Amino acid sequence: MKLEEIRAAEARLLLSTYDRNPLLFVGGKDVHIIDEKGDRYLDLLSGIGVNALGYGNAVIEEAIARQSHALIHTSNLYFHEGQANLALRLTERAGMDRAFFCNSGTEAWECALKLARAHAGILREEGKQIGTRFLALEQSFHGRSYGAMSTTYKDKYREPFAPVVPGVEFVRFNDVADLRAKFSSDVCAILVEAVQGEGGVRPLTQEFIAEARALASSTGALLIADEIQCGMGRTGKWCAYQHYGIHPDITTLAKPLAGGIPMGAVLCTEEVARSFHAGMHGTTFGGGPLACAVAVAVIDEMEKKNLLANATEVGNYFQSQLRLLAQRHPAIVDVRGKGLIIGAELDSAELAKLTVAEMLKRHILINCTSDTVLRFLPPYILTRAHVDTAIAALDEIFTEQAVAQPVGGQIHG
Ligand SMILES: Cc1ncc(COP(=O)(O)O)c(C=O)c1O
Repeated sequence: MKLEEIRAAEARLLLSTYDRNPLLFVGGKDVHIIDEKGDRYLDLLSGIGVNALGYGNAVIEEAIARQSHALIHTSNLYFHEGQANLALRLTERAGMDRAFFCNSGTEAWECALKLARAHAGILREEGKQIGTRFLALEQSFHGRSYGAMSTTYKDKYREPFAPVVPGVEFVRFNDVADLRAKFSSDVCAILVEAVQGEGGVRPLTQEFIAEARALASSTGALLIADEIQCGMGRTGKWCAYQHYGIHPDITTLAKPLAGGIPMGAVLCTEEVARSFHAGMHGTTFGGGPLACAVAVAVIDEMEKKNLLANATEVGNYFQSQLRLLAQRHPAIVDVRGKGLIIGAELDSAELAKLTVAEMLKRHILINCTSDTVLRFLPPYILTRAHVDTAIAALDEIFTEQAVAQPVGGQIHG
């Protein structure tokens, strides 16, 4: 089918949930994705943070081939070797004790919320005073299922589906005083992303995350770190919280975990793990042999190729080049991030939208989050040369826009 035929068929047949760009992709190699005309696009978004090893990775392809010949699915009624193999790798790297596997980010988050409420229930049985409220952060994004959506900040995600799950309060981002004011023994968990992704690539301050840890520990509440976007090496460490020297009670992983095969994971401490017993939670597909085998291969490949170090090195270079660009283009008002999760905040939503479209015309994929923030989530195999290509394109776009709309004009206004 041609692009126009697909578009027409989708418009007739699919639920209206996406506003897709008119591009039809058929393949890819390394950091480039290829459309049906054979045109290559430099992908600085990697399928929203999923394709960490890029496209056409031989190790992933071999793992899929090997495991699909052996066994694709068993259900969780029986054993296969994949979950233990993967749990060993993940718990060691994240500094956690136990794992649960599922199929997506939002599912991992649901499991984390259920663990927190069940854990508080156990503490109450043991005579502790602890409630069921969650403290989430303003601008947070945790997914689209009911619990995840209810702990996601923006009204547009929650309001059409009200009533949402009760017992969630939002704390102002990085506002320690607000956190202290809203915390009490009614709270069963504080929910954070060490670097907010959809919220505009915003890292938490050391002070805020340390206070969240201390407050939670003071009552037996949990600190839950959503690492679905910023985890699995993207920031240069396996988990972004490791930059802060703090340890959450639960963390959630997904996006790059299984190299593009859908998979989510929840990791937790032994203390939290006692909240679940057989039958309290489960999934038909989660932790299947195929996804586990690929995830193991992805982790091994990241280590073999030293990709966490590359994420740090090339990410720092990317940020430094964006800062230099900001000196020449006042439309860039902030550059932030860690490793290869990077945001460049612009002074208008209109300019941000136009920049994404102009980058696309130059065959470079990025997107815009929180209206004004250009977001870069490239594969971990990115090189400085790719960064230079992106920076040159941005330079050209901002120069053209500055000429078309001098300061005080519509776009930069
Ligand atoms: C921080 C965070 N949590 C949860 C999710 C939800 O993940 P999924 O789309 O796999 O359900 C996302 C997705 O973007 C995310 O960025």
